[in-house]
Amino acid sequence: MCGIVGYVGGGSAKEMILSGLKSLEYRGYDSAGIALIRKGKLLVRKESGKLKALEAKVGGPEFDGPIGIGHTRWATHGAPTRENAHPHQSGDGRIAIVHNGIIENFMELREELTRENEIRFVSETDSEVIAHLISLYYDGDLFDAVRSASRRMRGAYAVAALAESEPDRIIAIRKDAPLIAGVCAEGGLIASDIPALLKYTKDVYFIENNEIVVVTRGGVQIFDEEKTRMNRTRTHIDWDVTAAEKGGYEHFMRKEIFEQPAGIRETLRRRIDDSGHIALDDLEFTKEELDGLERIYIIACGTALHAGLIGKALIEKYARIPCEADLSSEFRYRDPIVNERTLCICISQSGETTDTLEGLREAKRKGAKILSIVNVVGSSVARASDHVFYTWAGPEIAVASTKAYTTQLTSLYLIAMYMGLLRGTTDEAACGRLLGELAEAPAMVEEVLKNEERFIGLAKEHYKKEKIFYVGRGLDVVTAQEASLKLKEITYINSFAIAAGELKHGTIALITKDVLFFALATQAALYEKMISNIEEMKARKAQVVAIAKAGAGRIGEVADDAFFIPECSDEIAPLVSIVPFHLISYHIAKLRGREIDQPRNLAKSVTVE
Ligand code: G6P
Repeated sequence: MCGIVGYVGGGSAKEMILSGLKSLEYRGYDSAGIALIRKGKLLVRKESGKLKALEAKVGGPEFDGPIGIGHTRWATHGAPTRENAHPHQSGDGRIAIVHNGIIENFMELREELTRENEIRFVSETDSEVIAHLISLYYDGDLFDAVRSASRRMRGAYAVAALAESEPDRIIAIRKDAPLIAGVCAEGGLIASDIPALLKYTKDVYFIENNEIVVVTRGGVQIFDEEKTRMNRTRTHIDWDVTAAEKGGYEHFMRKEIFEQPAGIRETLRRRIDDSGHIALDDLEFTKEELDGLERIYIIACGTALHAGLIGKALIEKYARIPCEADLSSEFRYRDPIVNERTLCICISQSGETTDTLEGLREAKRKGAKILSIVNVVGSSVARASDHVFYTWAGPEIAVASTKAYTTQLTSLYLIAMYMGLLRGTTDEAACGRLLGELAEAPAMVEEVLKNEERFIGLAKEHYKKEKIFYVGRGLDVVTAQEASLKLKEITYINSFAIAAGELKHGTIALITKDVLFFALATQAALYEKMISNIEEMKARKAQVVAIAKAGAGRIGEVADDAFFIPECSDEIAPLVSIVPFHLISYHIAKLRGREIDQPRNLAKSVTVE
């Protein structure tokens, strides 16, 4: 979704804002803009398209100053045109704002402002009303005007505002959209996301709902709605700047695919103590609490839900607690059976996905305890949870999630085993075996990654296909879903995933010689069944590439081609068998000339419903 950056200080606001916006490109955007105050004048430049287009417009020294705000917009209300790009200005051009989120009552406000104040709107966006509202309330104090305007706004927002007559401060406010602030040697900063600030500071303030931030050259001050100054401690962010840069890789996605062994290792290292035991004591679960649970709901979106589906199987197997994995967007509206005897596990890489955050709140309202699995420290989901399990993937920048997924899976293995041990539903020996395998998982993933040439070959052979389907059984169904999602996201090829046994109940009608199937067969008990399914596909002339475990035998003869992952248990297989698909999708996207890190219409963190 949209990205926000703001700077007040001794350096060049333009430079800081452009660098910040660049590091937020991964959020997905289709227009960008900057507002600056230079020599007492408020200047705004915006452009549709990528940052390069904006950069070309703000090149010279005549467009720079010590204070400014910037924005990358991902179109929701109104096409990605220059008019609809942020910053938006008041009619007299003396107030400028950038906004991330959605103003739900913008139509009402727009009508009122047009009718009663004769305001002429120049864009189709919901955000423009904010600039006019602030201007209407402006009486020489931007803080008060922003506060008054926010009282009229319903919906989700992080807003940063500038007033021409106050060239020394930015006022920002948030409700249900991320906003952070920081201080560097020369001034104060705000942004929607951590990567924008990393180059300048690693110590950030997380702004809470309805708080107002005053950013000046001297730093940042945070106030609540009643104008009471809040005393906040800063959170140190452990990511280094280079982690958020490409480091020689052509795309973030490929870099992140190759960072998976390190991500898995780090997630394990943080949670396994010196004696080799799982250390989740900080989650503070007791045996009684777990025994008292009626059920666990896992809620998440996209890739994170796929991790949750594997998590469901693991939790049921090890902890023997009924567990359901559900889409956050469905969960929150279907009146789920949730009470004090429910644990809700929220999985989110960004920790800012609105659907998941709202699902979390719904579960909390109904009395559930919340455990979240999150990658971004201090994110909204993390802060709203009772217990947090951080994945240690480091910043994930490419829209298509790879290393976040495998670290989420790693976390779920640990959580399921930990719960099982605490409840006594699993024994040390079984956990010891799985833990031993988890310790080997990074090496297994490395083994798969060494075969990149092989995946490039497969990509070359199939990149022109228009239909690529994925099938599997058991845990492989989930890997098939995640693999298909990866392909769709970055190649735009028509694809779906289906349980192989379900194929004959309808979908088989789609099979022709032009269809390519990826058939996963890593689950031992279902291996023979998969062989029969592959035969069904072959009989209808589809092409089939199988993925199985080393030593799997005749699958290579039945399918047209087969790739073998290292030998491992059925449970660990999802952690390893997704990796070939990361690389295959990546190379197909490359051959098709796609914008791999920022695919069309997609955003990294979806902060709208
Ligand atoms: C978006 C992204 C997906 C991601 C999903 C959930 O749709 O494009 O890649 O899986 O959000 O994101 P989260 O940050 O909550 O894991």
